[in-house]
Amino acid sequence: MKDLFFLLCSVQLLASSVAVYKQWIPNTNFENASNWDKGQIPCAHDVVLFKSNEVISIFVQSTHSLSDMYLPLTGEFIMAPGAGFAAFDGSWDPGCDPGSAVSFTDAEHYKWHDPALWHAASSLEDLEEGKYIFAVDEERVPCQYDDVIFQPETSFRVNVDSSERMIHLRSISIMGQKFTSDTAFAEYMQSGSAQRQFHGNGTFQVTNTRCPDKSGCECGNAGEHERICATLLRDSGSQCPALACKDPFQPVGHCCEICGATLSLEYTSGFDIRQYENRIRHAFLSLPKYAGVQLAISKVRKPQTFLGIVPRDSIPVIQIVLLDDKMGSQTGTNAEQLAEAILRDIAEHGDSFGIVTGTVQIATGSNSSGQRGVAAGGTAAGILTGLLGLLLLSTMLFLYRKGLIRLPSARLTGLWDRKGAQDAVAGPSDKGFDMPTDRAESHGVCPGEEVLKEMTSKDTGIYFVNPLYDETELAV
Ligand SMILES: *[C@@H]1O[C@H](CO)[C@@H](O)[C@H](O)[C@H]1NC(C)=O
Repeated sequence: MKDLFFLLCSVQLLASSVAVYKQWIPNTNFENASNWDKGQIPCAHDVVLFKSNEVISIFVQSTHSLSDMYLPLTGEFIMAPGAGFAAFDGSWDPGCDPGSAVSFTDAEHYKWHDPALWHAASSLEDLEEGKYIFAVDEERVPCQYDDVIFQPETSFRVNVDSSERMIHLRSISIMGQKFTSDTAFAEYMQSGSAQRQFHGNGTFQVTNTRCPDKSGCECGNAGEHERICATLLRDSGSQCPALACKDPFQPVGHCCEICGATLSLEYTSGFDIRQYENRIRHAFLSLPKYAGVQLAISKVRKPQTFLGIVPRDSIPVIQIVLLDDKMGSQTGTNAEQLAEAILRDIAEHGDSFGIVTGTVQIATGSNSSGQRGVAAGGTAAGILTGLLGLLLLSTMLFLYRKGLIRLPSARLTGLWDRKGAQDAVAGPSDKGFDMPTDRAESHGVCPGEEVLKEMTSKDTGIYFVNPLYDETELAV
């Protein structure tokens, strides 16, 4: 118990900053073989051809000797120190016979809103090491609080056509230069290089602002959903891939239906999305049995219906999408197991993370699909949301919890209250009952050692679930 407590503490301290970096993948570098129609970099005997009307910016890393080169009217070469072109001097170039015309491939079709053209990671280190995060399609494209990176020493050309006409970003880095202000970037956009790098009707707003809400922020790409999905699916004729489960469903922000599981969590203002994500990742996802499961967590706007029929306004929920690598009749079963473990955890400890209810949608190859729900507060309320509007549901839960809520021991209450007392908790749970664990934050959760002793010597450590606990312990 004590070790686990330490583990969770250190994990939380490590992950205090909320940031997502999105890195553009394609480039128009001269030395990138896939940018040439023959699939290899032009060599001494070759004649290099650019279309005369091609608008392009090309980074050149080294010196190339060429027989001849036909340049475009409005292109630019960005030369690395020491790079250049030399006329072929007749000397023998191994691996470069017979010599032919080589054309630069068209870079016009790369679109900003193509999810397949971005890598996402939660730190620059992770980006470098290729530790990318999984996200629904809308969130694979840069979101409003993301840092966008065009790698140093690469040239590129990107179509920024946008349905909303405005692309919001926290920052953008180009050729190693980071722009964090709107004016600085607007100025850059006037430059010749920018004109060759960006085309299309979208304009940028660079805010230098992080998501101000610890419960998370919506990505902000919902208005581009059609464009994003059309771009993603253009090579397959707008067809989503065939799936191995019977009742696949579509997570909010995703282009296609999936097999697997999606949880929707309703939360209070005490909820901290990064803290909760860390808990899920380290207490559950890191277990060997979930090795093939991918997890995406974000705040999304979920369309609601009243009594399952009448459309209502959408509400923000925390969506967790789980996919696994199982095949055939096993498809989605691993994701399902993890979803159920998370739901049990919410039933038992949801209050301490500011989670009010959780509902899950599951589709597996063995077709035990369906939707179920659970309420936080130690009472597994197996309520189907199919017929109950969520408004109704939360009202019921509020009344339910008001009477039945179990307070932890007085000693623990004091401990948890210390940090959380000043934090207001919005919504119906505001004054209905005092649930100090609702407000627990990463900073308040990890006290000094004396407090640790107090906690571990008493049999009250109910907040941290043992990741190895018996799965059958709680029925969902
Ligand atoms: C080469 O260019 C292609 C297309 O732009 C890109 O997908 C690929 O990552 C590039 N390769 C390298 C090594 O930069």
